[in-house]
Amino acid sequence: MDLVQNSLEAGAKQVIVRVDEAVDQLILEVQDDGCGMSEAVLARALDPFYTDGRKHRHRKVGLGLAFLKQMTDATGGMLRIESQPGQGTLVHCRLDRRHVDVPPAGDWVQTFTGMLAFDGDYDLVIERCADAEMHYRICRSELIEALGELQTAASLKLAAEYIVSHEEALQKGKENGTIDA
Ligand SMILES: Nc1ncnc2c1ncn2[C@@H]1O[C@H](COP(=O)(O)OP(=O)(O)O)[C@@H](O)[C@H]1O
Ligand SMILES: [Mg+2]
Repeated sequence: MDLVQNSLEAGAKQVIVRVDEAVDQLILEVQDDGCGMSEAVLARALDPFYTDGRKHRHRKVGLGLAFLKQMTDATGGMLRIESQPGQGTLVHCRLDRRHVDVPPAGDWVQTFTGMLAFDGDYDLVIERCADAEMHYRICRSELIEALGELQTAASLKLAAEYIVSHEEALQKGKENGTIDA
């Protein structure tokens, strides 16, 4: 959610989120066509001592890129950020799910619904994979076409139900050892 929010704050019009879960690892990728970062801005963003706390005054600690970097470093994960000013940013993160200090992934339905519901004129594509195999793909613009703006409780509920049905199919596929696209 936080990475997508960064992308939108960077003025992105197209955001691609990839979540790939395997038994032992979780790969998260957020790619955007926002304003990008210079090397200096990126270095500052990764510096845990920099955060000025102005932008998210009421935010809990433990979010943001610096946190993600600390967490991946401390748990044997990997964080790679590719960014070009004026072009966009790719954040690629691999986490060892067996490491005790890696927080649980949480509720994907809620997370995906939340990122689809951010206000603004942008497209968001969510690619959900399991063991590197693509399982389902959600496109915000297509959802909005079908459900209307994702701002009302009713359309958000339908969006969540849609994601739930895909997640259930994925979990079922995992149990049966087969995954249908
Ligand atoms: N996707 C992105 N595109 C451009 N700049 C970004 C992106 N993600 C992060 N940044 C830059 O890195 C800074 C730190 O991000 P973050 O750690 O999420 O903290 P915050 O969003 O509270 O500033 C942002 O303020 C922004 O300048
Ligand atoms: Mg942020």
